Amino acid sequence: MKIERILGMFAIVVSIAMGSSLVEKVKGSGLKAIPSSNYELLQLIDDPKDPITDAKVELGKKLYFDPRLSRSNLISCNTCHNLALGGVDGVSAAVGHKWTANPHHLNSPTVYNSVFFDAQFWDGRSAHLADQAQGPVQAGPEMASPKALVEKRINSIPEYVNEFKVAYGDHVKVDFERITSTIALFEKTLVTPSRFDLFLNGNENALSKEEKKGLNTFIDKGCASCHNGIALGGTLQPFEVAAKYKFSEIGDFKGNKDGMVKTPTLRNITQTAPYFHNGAIWSLPDAIKEMGSVQLGIKISDNEAKEILTFFKALEGKKPVIVYPELPKSSETTPKPTFN
Ligand code: HEC
Ligand code: HEC
Repeated sequence: MKIERILGMFAIVVSIAMGSSLVEKVKGSGLKAIPSSNYELLQLIDDPKDPITDAKVELGKKLYFDPRLSRSNLISCNTCHNLALGGVDGVSAAVGHKWTANPHHLNSPTVYNSVFFDAQFWDGRSAHLADQAQGPVQAGPEMASPKALVEKRINSIPEYVNEFKVAYGDHVKVDFERITSTIALFEKTLVTPSRFDLFLNGNENALSKEEKKGLNTFIDKGCASCHNGIALGGTLQPFEVAAKYKFSEIGDFKGNKDGMVKTPTLRNITQTAPYFHNGAIWSLPDAIKEMGSVQLGIKISDNEAKEILTFFKALEGKKPVIVYPELPKSSETTPKPTFN
C-alpha cells in the first residue's frame, strides 16, 4: 500500500473519531439537541391538560399580533418580540406604552425557543410561558391593559369569541387567563432547529471544520457550564462571578434576590443584538469577551471570540413559517384606544 493511501485512511479514521468524540463531549457537557422527530418534540412541549391543536395555535398567533391587546391599540407582543427580527426589537431597552422605555432599562429577550427555558424574565420570576404572558399585557410600560379591558375588547369581537369556541369548546370562558394562555400556546411552537441539532442528532457533516472548532472552544472555555440544555441557556445562574459587568451602571437591574440572572439562550444569538439585560453591548465578539472576564475570570482572545462566533452561526435556526394573520374586525362595542 502506498504511503499516501495509508495516511489518507488514517486521516479519515481520525476525523471520524474526532467527529464522534466531539458529539460525546458536547453531550457530556450538558448541551442538548432539539429532537428531530415531531413526536419527541411534542413529548417535551405539549401539556396534556391543554394540548396543542391547530385551532389554538392559529388563534394564539392572531392574539400575538393583535395590538388591540394594548390600551393604545398600537402595541402587540410582536412590537417588542418581532418574529421577523429573531423575536426581539433591536433596541437596548424595550419601548412600550406612551413611548416609555422599560424603567429598569431591560432589553427584550427572544421568544423563539422560550418553551425550553426553565425560567422566564431576566430575574426568572416566572416559570411558565402562560404565566409570563400575563405580565406584559398589564404592565404599565408595556401594553398597559388592565385584565378587564383585554377581556372586554376580545369579547366584543364576535369572530374572536367564535374562534375560542372552536378551539376550546362551546362553554369556554374567554377570560384574561384563557387569552394569555392561548398566546403562550402559540409561543410553544416557536422552535428553531439548526445545523447544530443535525450535528448532535447524528449528521457529523452538518457543521464545518471551523464550526466544530468553535464549538470545542466554547466548551473548553467553560461557557457550557451555564449555557446548556436545549436552549443553551434558560436557567438562573450567578452573574458577575469573577468581575463586575462593564455596563452594570446602566439601569438598576441586579438579578433576583440572590443576584441570579436568567441565562439567555444562544440560539439565533447572531440575530438578537444588542446583548445583556440592559442591551448595552452591540457587538457579539465583545459580548463573548465580556462573558469571559465577568463569568469565568479569563481573557478570551480576539481569535477565540471569532471561533466561538463561528460556532454561533450554526445555531441560527429554521424559523416556523408564519403567515401574517388577518385579524377579526372590531365591533361597535369594542372599547376605544386611550393614550393616558
Ligand atoms: C414593550 C415591549 C414588550 C411587549 C409589548 C411585550 N414584551 Fe415580552 N418582554 C419584554 C421585556 C423587556 C422582557 C424582559 C422583562 C423582564 O425581565 O422583566 C420581556 C420578557 C418576555 C418573555 C420572557 C423571555 C425570557 O427569555 O425571559 C416572554 C416569553 C415574553 N416577553 C413574551 C411576550 C408576550 C407573549 C407578549 C404579548 C402578550 C409580550 N412579551 C409583550 C418586552 C415586551
Ligand atoms: C456562570 C454562568 C455563565 C457562564 C460561565 C457564561 N455565561 Fe454567558 N451569560 C450568563 C448570564 C447569566 C447572562 C446574562 C447576563 C446579563 O445580561 O445580565 C449571559 C449572557 C451571555 C450573552 C449575551 C446574550 C444576550 O442575549 O444578551 C452571550 C453572547 C453569552 N452569555 C455568551 C457566553 C460565552 C461565549 C461564554 C463562555 C466564554 C459564556 N457566556 C459563559 C451566564 C454565563
